[in-house]
Order: sequence, then structure tokens, then C-alpha cells
Amino acid sequence: MKKLSLKINRIEGEIIPPADKSITHRAIILGALAKKGLRINRALISGDTLSTVDCFRKLGKEITIKGNDIYVAAGPLKEPIEILNCHNSGTTARLLAGLLSAQPFYSVIDGDNSLRQRPMKRIVGPLSLMGARIFGRQEGAFLPISIKGGELQAIDYELPVASAQVKSAILLAGLFTEGQTTVREKIKSRDHLERMLKYFGQEISLEEKTVKIRGKKKIELEGGEIAVPGDISSAAFLITAAVLVPKSRLIVRQVNYNPTRIGFIKKLLQMGARLSVLNLKEEYNEEVADLEVKFSELKAVEITAEEVPALIDEIPLFALLATQAIGISRISGAKELRYKECDRLRALYLNLRKMGARIEEQEDGLIIEGPTRLKGAEVQSFNDHRIAMTMIIAALIAEGEMSLDSLDCIQISYPEFRQHLLTICH
Ligand code: S3P
Repeated sequence: MKKLSLKINRIEGEIIPPADKSITHRAIILGALAKKGLRINRALISGDTLSTVDCFRKLGKEITIKGNDIYVAAGPLKEPIEILNCHNSGTTARLLAGLLSAQPFYSVIDGDNSLRQRPMKRIVGPLSLMGARIFGRQEGAFLPISIKGGELQAIDYELPVASAQVKSAILLAGLFTEGQTTVREKIKSRDHLERMLKYFGQEISLEEKTVKIRGKKKIELEGGEIAVPGDISSAAFLITAAVLVPKSRLIVRQVNYNPTRIGFIKKLLQMGARLSVLNLKEEYNEEVADLEVKFSELKAVEITAEEVPALIDEIPLFALLATQAIGISRISGAKELRYKECDRLRALYLNLRKMGARIEEQEDGLIIEGPTRLKGAEVQSFNDHRIAMTMIIAALIAEGEMSLDSLDCIQISYPEFRQHLLTICH
């Protein structure tokens, strides 16, 4: 158990959050396919993105990392001799499965204990419909899976679950498939891959909830150079700290402000948070903005199924905020949280209840009544980076001693978390 002993007066200062994880993964993947190679400036260098780098090195790519920049050299993908270990990264595993289904070689994808328990049927299903040959336990429902890649057929597919990972896996397979691959979504999920493909010159049709891509056996993405904006899902931890700690004022610079990712900001505004969006601009086909946020009195609100995809990774923070908001907050339609790095609904329920929150667990969500004074407790990370960081932010407003089993998992998405927090804690 590690003691969390950050007792503070207020949050104040300016921070540039780490680069976006979803965009960094996609830049490495598309960089590996680009005819000129790709220089990725201000990339996220963390556990998850290093898993993607490692897999592409095993696929024969020359990749150099200098500081926060990644250079992916031009050159073909080759059959890997070794198993592609995605460790904790669901995005790496699912997107790779799509790409490798369409490559003329054999590969094996595996992950750590957490990733081996996360559902893969959602990608194996549509990829098999395209003709992919994927094998694994329970018909490919779980890692490890092996893939005998080859020629595929284009499909027109409606996603049964709102998932950018599934959409991206199908699009990456479709990129190498003759004809038109169509993915239809009921609720729009993050569209970073579509935007980046377009930026690199790929013909792609983007309607509100339908993506169409015309693939070729030999694709020619431009590549060159790109820079990654800050990750709103990482910035959200510091934003939450500023909202919850009295007398706080924080500026977060260069955050990705893609409309498919800003559900958390919209929800905070609905709750009454004092937050302003400044300097909104476009860079490399992604919106970027600065945010100013101050301590705020909050009122309870609801999160419904339609709203979940745009704030899926921020729901742990929303649950914490709800313990301090006046009234009853309800999260529903969020069963997907049970299939993340841990069962996040269960983890939040167990930890926040231990801290004295009035919280009820539902099959697909949580009900939280606030405000409550949180008290220090022995809480668990469940080896999940977002649960660990949420608990550290909770400790800032808890009365009494707080301890957490392990901090190691934080390096998955935010290695500088501790240092950033210390910079703005006064
Ligand atoms: C991601 C998509 C989301 C998100 C994850 C990253 C991506 O997962 O929770 O952190 O980069 O595509 P799902 O596709 O499972 O919703």
C-alpha cells in the first residue's frame, strides 16, 4: 500500500497534458504504411504506445524515438518471428488484428492478464465476415489469437457496440480490400483514424455516423509529418482536481478538442463548472484548444447511453465529481465500462463506497447521491491506470489517511502524472 499524502491548499498553474493516446497509436500504425514514413512530433511515450512501437518493430519497421518524437521509417511490413505482445493495450491489439487480417503472412497477437480477459469477438466477428482467418480460445473470443492474413472482401457493417477500436479495426482491414467497406455506427465514436487517413490523402467518405473507404491491395498513404495534440482524457484528471479543490484556477494548453471526445467538458458545463474554452484552432485535421477551469459548486446531472462514447474514459472522474454535486447523478448505458482495463463500474463502486460515498451499482451504470464528505480509505487500483489516477484526485479532497495498492499502472497513459500534479498543487 502506498500512502497518498498530498494535502493541499489549492490547484493553480498551467499545464500541457501528455499527447493523445488514441491519436499516437493511430499515427504509429498509419506511419508504418506511409510511403515517405512519418515523423510524429509531441507523441505520447507511455506503456501503451510503446507496446504499439514494439509490435511494429517486430513487424519489420524501423522506429526511432527521440524525446517525445517518434520516427517511423518507410518500408514494408514483414511476417513477425515473435509473438506480438500488446501488454495492457486494447487499442494496439484490436487495431493490429484488423490490419494484420489483410497482410499476406501469419502473426500471433497476445497481451497481459487483463487484456487476455477483454472481449475480442467484437473484432473477430466482422473481420471473419470479411474472410479473415483468425483462431483463438472460444473461437477467437479472447487473446492470444493467431491470424493467417490474406485477401478479404469488403463489407457493409453496422456496429453492435459503440467502439472506435472496432470501427478502426474494420477500416484498417478495409484499407487493403478491393471495393467499398462501410461501417455504420448508432452512436458516433472517436474519429481520429478517419481524420488522419484523410489528412494522409486517403479517399474516405465521412457522413455523420457512416464511414466508407475504398481499399486497394497496395495503398499509398502520404505520411511526412504530424504533431499530436494533448489528451483530453489525461487532462481530465487535473481539470477535476481544479473543479473540486476550493480557490483553484488551472489552465490546460493544447488539448485535443475533437467533438467526439469532449463529452466530459460538456457535462462539466451542465453541472455548473466554471470552465472556458480558449484559442480553438485546427491542426493536422484535429481541433485543439486551451481550457481555463476554476473551483466550482456542482449540481447533479445524468449520463445516458447516447452520451457515453464521447466521455467513456472519463466516467471514473464523473463518478468522483458526482459525490460532490448536489442531488442524484445517474450514469446508465455504460456497461462497456465493465470490459475496460478492469471492471470500472465495480471498481468505482467499491472504492468510492469505502470512502463514504452514497453510491449504488447498477448492471449498466451507477447512481450517486451528493454531496458527501469523502474520508480517506485503503483503495485499490485494480491495475487500471484511470482508476489509480481517479483515486489520487479523490485523495486531494478526502479527510484522513488515504492509501492505494499500486501506482505502477499510471505509466500506461500518463507517466508524468505525479510531476504534473506536484507542479499545480499549492
Ligand atoms: C479507444 C477507444 C475506446 C477507449 C479507449 C481508446 C481508441 O475504447 O475507451 O481508451 O483509441 O480507439 P472502445 O473502442 O472499446 O470504446
